[in-house]
Amino acid sequence: MLPTVLITGANGQLGTVLVPVLRERYGHDNVIATDIRPPLAGATGRFSLLDATDEESLRQLVRGEGVTQIYHLGAILSANGELNPLHTWRVNMDSLLNVLEVSRTEGVERVFYPSSIAVFGHHADLSCTPNHSVLNPTTVYGISKAAGENWAQYYFERYGLDVRSLRYPGIIGHQSAPGGGTTDYAVEIFHSAAAGQPYSCFLQSDTTLPMIYMDDAIRATLELMEAPTASIKVRTSYNLSGCSFSPADVAEAIQKILPDFEVRYAPDFRQNIAADWPDRIDDGPARNDWGWKPAYDLDRICATMLDNLLQRAEANSEVKD
Ligand code: SER
Repeated sequence: MLPTVLITGANGQLGTVLVPVLRERYGHDNVIATDIRPPLAGATGRFSLLDATDEESLRQLVRGEGVTQIYHLGAILSANGELNPLHTWRVNMDSLLNVLEVSRTEGVERVFYPSSIAVFGHHADLSCTPNHSVLNPTTVYGISKAAGENWAQYYFERYGLDVRSLRYPGIIGHQSAPGGGTTDYAVEIFHSAAAGQPYSCFLQSDTTLPMIYMDDAIRATLELMEAPTASIKVRTSYNLSGCSFSPADVAEAIQKILPDFEVRYAPDFRQNIAADWPDRIDDGPARNDWGWKPAYDLDRICATMLDNLLQRAEANSEVKD
């Protein structure tokens, strides 16, 4: 039987792309997008305004629609989260605990909870961080994700709620904008390059971070969610790897296609956040347990991003002419 799916944070970077994919897969009427903000211009399909920190509203929607799966994408990310730490903690934790508790009591069968490379800190081996590492996050976002992973595992072990989770690296896609993370530069840089403008980077040139292309991130999410229950052995969260690069690496890869592209470096507070994150992560358990394998390396990401953004720029200029 097809699931009835509810997505929180559906207007965000990942939700914008994931929702149409879920609709294609599970049927248009079976996927309910929700967000605290109204639908984006041009968005179609079922949508409800929902603040997941409001347990009763979430419960009514889940009960009324007979929801069987929740993708809880709503959260305040690492850089934005530092602007108001206690608010970030409350939003990220209250919404997750509501999702878990409503799922347990309303018969939701499966929950997806995105975690992040932000759960790691300088006591982990940041050169290639193992799945089961010490977690000493330095941002409130990372603290909330580390706590959330443990809550996910708790709900699985105590109540048998089938919660599944990935530690996403920075996600790079052309369809949507990231919302206040430390890895946002890796999307912004392509928009500047495609617009023929120089880019001012808020990280140092040599700051290597794990990244993943949007298509890989979506595919990993679906592969995890559709894997047989017996193959899910990690109930906190799986490290998910795409490829790793620094701003200098991506600048060089873009310059192979657009030789005049220029990057300047003006590191800000986000540099300190990135300094405590892994260079790369070991996603061995994801590969072994449910067969994860990324398809995009840096050159393929560059070619795909620039292709799409340049085509869009051209289409926009034709509309104006
Ligand atoms: N991309 C996220 C951030 O930078 C990491 O999960 O906050």
